[in-house]
Amino acid sequence: MLWIKMLHIVFMVTWFAGLFYLPRLFVYHAMTEDSAGSARFKIMERKLYYGIMAPGAVFTIVFGMWLWLGYGIGGAWLHAKLAVVTALVVYHLYCGRLLADFNFDRNARSHLWYRWFNEVPVIFLFAAVILVVVKPF
Ligand code: HEM
Repeated sequence: MLWIKMLHIVFMVTWFAGLFYLPRLFVYHAMTEDSAGSARFKIMERKLYYGIMAPGAVFTIVFGMWLWLGYGIGGAWLHAKLAVVTALVVYHLYCGRLLADFNFDRNARSHLWYRWFNEVPVIFLFAAVILVVVKPF
């Protein structure tokens, strides 16, 4: 069980690395005026989203489900945690939509909007880790 939990935590960290870094790239991309700079951001964003964030998300969920359904670890805290995970997946998929907007040069949001958007995963991280480590209910 501990090997599965180890893999769960490692992929969770991988997923969050992308959830924090991709919106930061969007901040700088939204401020970029030259086409060479924009082309460079498009490559970085695409590799981060498909090469790091997507596998991180998939394996965090696979090993989390394994801990839950395979070892029967659960409770009211896990139901609340699954609500947080659902919101995280929605945020992740919305990042994919924003990625497409930048890729087709149709981004309409300001760098300021992306700075606030970049803070959202912090709230989800605290909520999920408090629920699973402290298990308040
Ligand atoms: C569908 C998604 C997920 C499921 C079903 C799930 C389920 C679980 C379960 C059953 C455990 C074992 C708890 C224990 O041994 O007491 C666990 C551990 C953990 N999960 Fe998740 N999890 C999911 C997603 C996440 C996400 C997104 C995060 C990140 C914020 C996360 C962070 C952790 C941490 C840090 C632990 C280790 C807790 C400890 O050892 O005390 N999990 N998870």
